[in-house]
Amino acid sequence: MNTKLFVIPQVKGYEEDIQAAASILRSGGLVGIPTETVYGLGADALNEDAVRRIYEAKGRPSTNPLIIHVPSADWLDTYCADVPQLAYDVAEAFWPGPLTLILKAKPIIPKRTTGGLDTVAVRCPAHPVASAIIAAAGVPIAAPSANTSGRPSCTSASHVIEDMDGRIEGIVDGGDSEVGVESTILDLTSNPPCLLRPGGMPLEELIEVVGEVDIDSAVTSEIKPGVQPRAPGMAFRHYAPKAPVTVVTGSADQTAAYILKNVGKTSGVICFDEYAELFPHQTVECLGSAFNKAAQARRVFGVLRAFDSTDVTEIYAQCPDRSGLGFAVLNRLQKAAGFHIVEVAK
Ligand code: TXA
Ligand code: MG
Repeated sequence: MNTKLFVIPQVKGYEEDIQAAASILRSGGLVGIPTETVYGLGADALNEDAVRRIYEAKGRPSTNPLIIHVPSADWLDTYCADVPQLAYDVAEAFWPGPLTLILKAKPIIPKRTTGGLDTVAVRCPAHPVASAIIAAAGVPIAAPSANTSGRPSCTSASHVIEDMDGRIEGIVDGGDSEVGVESTILDLTSNPPCLLRPGGMPLEELIEVVGEVDIDSAVTSEIKPGVQPRAPGMAFRHYAPKAPVTVVTGSADQTAAYILKNVGKTSGVICFDEYAELFPHQTVECLGSAFNKAAQARRVFGVLRAFDSTDVTEIYAQCPDRSGLGFAVLNRLQKAAGFHIVEVAK
């Protein structure tokens, strides 16, 4: 298949290309679309055949449900049942933005989209090009992250081309993803609401609006065999570069010292910018300043991806603490490491 590349940096002046991408979606095709979190692999969420092709293109297990993307909270009532007032309050506070809500699904949403569940994940993305494409398509757009299943998510159109060229009808290049980690997922079907995935919307900000929030155990620890996490996707090995990763937690100075003591010539190192010069003999990828978690979130997937074109035999990673966007960065690194974590004393 010939994958058509659209370069759409903004809405104004690119209306024709936006219509063209939307029309591929409306006719059952697959389009890689930019969002503020990561690139999504979009298809009409109401079209079972189109949705089936998402699973095929990604190599994704059919039991791992998709997020549907809508242009505004006004669409909630059409696709979700028994929507609580809290959903509207949270949407009012945070949409459009990097937050996905789990709600009861109406039967109009095919089971193939929800992975057989009676709930559905809904998000209203903040990227203006994504909103324009979804609004022009006129249907909710199912979009998992655009990576091949198991690989780090795509934060640029070139990542999507790497994973999806020839497998889908179109890719829209809307620039690098501003947030860089996927949306925060909040399950509103339970009381108190439950965090299923830390992401681009910091938990502290959510709690200010939602009040008490539980944290699903799959967020912070490895899932035991046979146990089904509430977000099915959290069960799968994820984000992993080819070389095994060890995440080192503790203060930045101490984690750097630990890594320095343990690295060899063929090791790769993921470190904060301030520590890069400690590793002149290693392949180093900088995560961003130790003091800039937004930069770390933007870079984390690109950094993990970059090692796949190197010969490193192992990777050590510094990582941030759990506050703010650090929770999402830490979680992605821990998942990339299969929860292989070394804690150095504080
Ligand atoms: O930022 C994002 O959320 C990106 C962009 C493209 O919007 N999308 C994304 O989709 O990360 P995906 O498919 O890579 O991750 C969705 C996660 C999976 O872990 C899936 O299991 C979970 O959401 N999920 C989807 N529907 C669910 C449901 N009804 N109940 C619980 N978890 C659900
Ligand atoms: Mg994903």
